[in-house]
Amino acid sequence: MLVVGSGGREHALVRALASSPGRPRLLCAPGNAGIAADAECHAVKADDIAGLVALAGRERAGLVVVGPEVPLSLGLADRLRQAAIPVYGPSAAGARLEASKTFTKRLLLKYAIPTAAAGVFTEVGPALSYLRSRTAPIVVKADGLAAGKGVVVAQTLGEAESAVRDMLEGGRFGDGGRQVLIEDCLQGEETSILVVVSGREYVILPTSQDHKRIGDGDTGPNTGGMGAYSPAEVVTPGLMHEIERTIVRPSVDAIASEGIDFCGTLFVGIMLTAAGPSVLEFNTRFGDPETQAVLPRLKTDTLALLWAAARGTLGGFRLDVSSDFAICVVVSARGYPGSYPSGEPIELPARLPDGVVILHAGTGRDALGRLVSAGGRLLGVTAVAPTLAQAAQRAYGACDAIRFPSKYYRRDIGARQLRRL
Ligand code: AMP
Ligand code: GLY
Repeated sequence: MLVVGSGGREHALVRALASSPGRPRLLCAPGNAGIAADAECHAVKADDIAGLVALAGRERAGLVVVGPEVPLSLGLADRLRQAAIPVYGPSAAGARLEASKTFTKRLLLKYAIPTAAAGVFTEVGPALSYLRSRTAPIVVKADGLAAGKGVVVAQTLGEAESAVRDMLEGGRFGDGGRQVLIEDCLQGEETSILVVVSGREYVILPTSQDHKRIGDGDTGPNTGGMGAYSPAEVVTPGLMHEIERTIVRPSVDAIASEGIDFCGTLFVGIMLTAAGPSVLEFNTRFGDPETQAVLPRLKTDTLALLWAAARGTLGGFRLDVSSDFAICVVVSARGYPGSYPSGEPIELPARLPDGVVILHAGTGRDALGRLVSAGGRLLGVTAVAPTLAQAAQRAYGACDAIRFPSKYYRRDIGARQLRRL
C-alpha cells in the first residue's frame, strides 16, 4: 500500500491502514518524521507524478491512496489506472470539482443542489457592477486551487472590490485567480461531510467540524485547519437525512451523469443555514484535520473500505462507527499562517495517556537526528474518549506536555459543541 502525501491526514491514513487485519506493508511518499515510524518513507514529492507512478510500479503497490489535491488535479490517479495500479482517488476530471470552484458552482446550479447564488467573472468591470447589485457581507473566491487561501468573506463592498481587483488585476493566486466567483454570504454553522464514493455508490463517514481560523473564538486569518472533532452533533440524525437526500445523493448522481467516473473522497463543505443545508465547496480528498478525528472512530477496517471503493464493490458496504468522541488539536509554529520559525527541536512527552496519539505533519529530522519543526502545522494531537469533554481534556494534557519554543495551538477546539451540552 502506498500513501501519497506528508501531512497529518496522511499520518492518520497510515495509522488506520496499519491497523488493518491484513497487516499491509505500508509505504509513504514523501511522508514526514512521524510517518517514518509507521511506514517506509520514500523521498518522492507528492507532485512528482512520474516518480510516484514509477515507485508504485517498482514496489508493486496493491493500492495507492492519494492524500492531497495537487497530484489528483495533475492526473496521478489517471496515470496509475493506465498502469493497472489500483488507486483510491479521483481522476483529474473528478479533481476538477475541487480545482475549479466555477465548474462546481455550475454543476450544483444545473442539478438544483442547494448552494449560494453566485456570478462568475473574468473581467473587473462586470464583476464590480455585479457587486454593486448585491449587499455585504459577500464572498469573493478565486476559481482555482489556492491552498485554502483563495476565499475572502468581505464585510463591506469596498473590501470585496479590493479582493476582486487583487485576483483579476493583481495576479494574486496566479492562474487560479484569473476567474472569480462572487457569492452570497451564507450564515450558520459549518460541517464537513466526507463521503467515500465509487461511481454511483457511496458511504458517508461520521460527521466532523473543522476550526479554520488561527485564533480562539474563530478570529484571525484562515488556515489549513487548526483542529477538528467528530461527531459534530449540530448535524442531528434528521439533518443528516436531509443532507443525504438534498446534497449527497444528488451530487453523486450529478457527477456520474456528467460522465465523471469518480472514485475517492467527496468532501462536502456545508453551511447549516436557517433555510437548510447548503454546499460551500467540494474537495476531492480527505479533509485535514477532519480525517485525524474521523478515522479513529471507524470500527470498520479502513483498508477494506478504500479497497472496495477502488474495486467498484462499495454497494452494500456497512460502516461500523464507535460511539466515542474524537478530537484533533493542531499544534503549529507561532506566526503561522504568516511567517514562522523552522528547525526548532521538538520534545514530545515520553508517555501518552490512553486513547491519545500524536500525528505528525510538518516535522523533520536535523543532522543530529533530532525531531525538528519543518512547517507551519506541525502535530495533530488526537484523543478518543467516551465524551467530547474527556477527549478534549486528554488531548490538551498532551499538548501542554509538548515542548518547543514557538509552540502554538488553539485552546477551544470542540468548545462550541461543549457549550451546547
Ligand atoms: P471554501 O474553500 O469555498 O470552503 O471557503 C473557505 C471558507 O470560507 C469556508 O469554510 C467558509 O468559512 C467561508 N465561506 C465560503 N463560502 C462562503 C459563503 N458563501 N458564505 C459564507 N462563508 C463562506
Ligand atoms: N479542513 C479543510 C480541508 O481539508 O480543506
